[in-house]
Amino acid sequence: MRILFVGDVYGKIGRTMLGDYLPKLKARFKPTVTIVNGENSAHGKGITEKIYKMMMEAGADAITLGNHAWDNKEIFEFIDRAPHLVRPANYPPGTPGRGLTYLNRNGVEIAIINLQGRTFLPTIDCPFRKADELIATARARTPVIFIDFHAETTSEKMAMGWYVDGRVSAVIGTHTHVQTADERILPGGTAYLTDAGMTGPYDGIIGVQRDAVIRKFLTGLPVRFESETGRPQLSSVIIDVDEATGRATKIFRCLINEDHPFDNDRADFS
Ligand SMILES: [Fe+2]
Ligand SMILES: [Fe+2]
Repeated sequence: MRILFVGDVYGKIGRTMLGDYLPKLKARFKPTVTIVNGENSAHGKGITEKIYKMMMEAGADAITLGNHAWDNKEIFEFIDRAPHLVRPANYPPGTPGRGLTYLNRNGVEIAIINLQGRTFLPTIDCPFRKADELIATARARTPVIFIDFHAETTSEKMAMGWYVDGRVSAVIGTHTHVQTADERILPGGTAYLTDAGMTGPYDGIIGVQRDAVIRKFLTGLPVRFESETGRPQLSSVIIDVDEATGRATKIFRCLINEDHPFDNDRADFS
């Protein structure tokens, strides 16, 4: 099974980039399933039902979220009727939505889990203990398990990767909006990447209008954040998984922007 994962889609520029490049990525890499993080898809802040449907129509099979999941209040109306929208699982019991979903492709199931870190983020329930619980649940059905770990610090993400190594197929980080270059397969067979990166404005500061962010740093005063305009980028990662064992066999980053153009004939990937 081949998994294509696209990092945090940010605002209209991110949605347009997803619409433009998902067909190209799919034609080139032929993923079995496509998972997209959509926590910033509505103007940087959350997601709406219309955008959820649009991203699914654009080719996503499941959408994961993060700390911005709740920014657009519309989510509370539609999250429970969106079966493939996955929010961080370690919010307290009673939180709407689900943190684990399954997809079936030609008789093979993949479990998709979203977790959120607690370092420099709200102190919700423990993502490590929640991972134990959900992995046990998922492994009763399938060894193919994908985790989007939405967290701020490299150490917390790396700790999660090593903690679940051998029990899941992949731990891919999101939230920092900058793609890291540390993709690897851990000894137990878990594909790992600290952060997939962001899909949206290339020339902003993690998606936000850069003048506003710089002003905030210079003055220390509250500043209204808007999405940056201009050139786009798409951040993604591709993982191959042995369906029988759940072990990852390959991980490959694919960052697309004007400095890293999409090369349809990538010789380094088969
Ligand atoms: Fe994000
Ligand atoms: Fe985030």
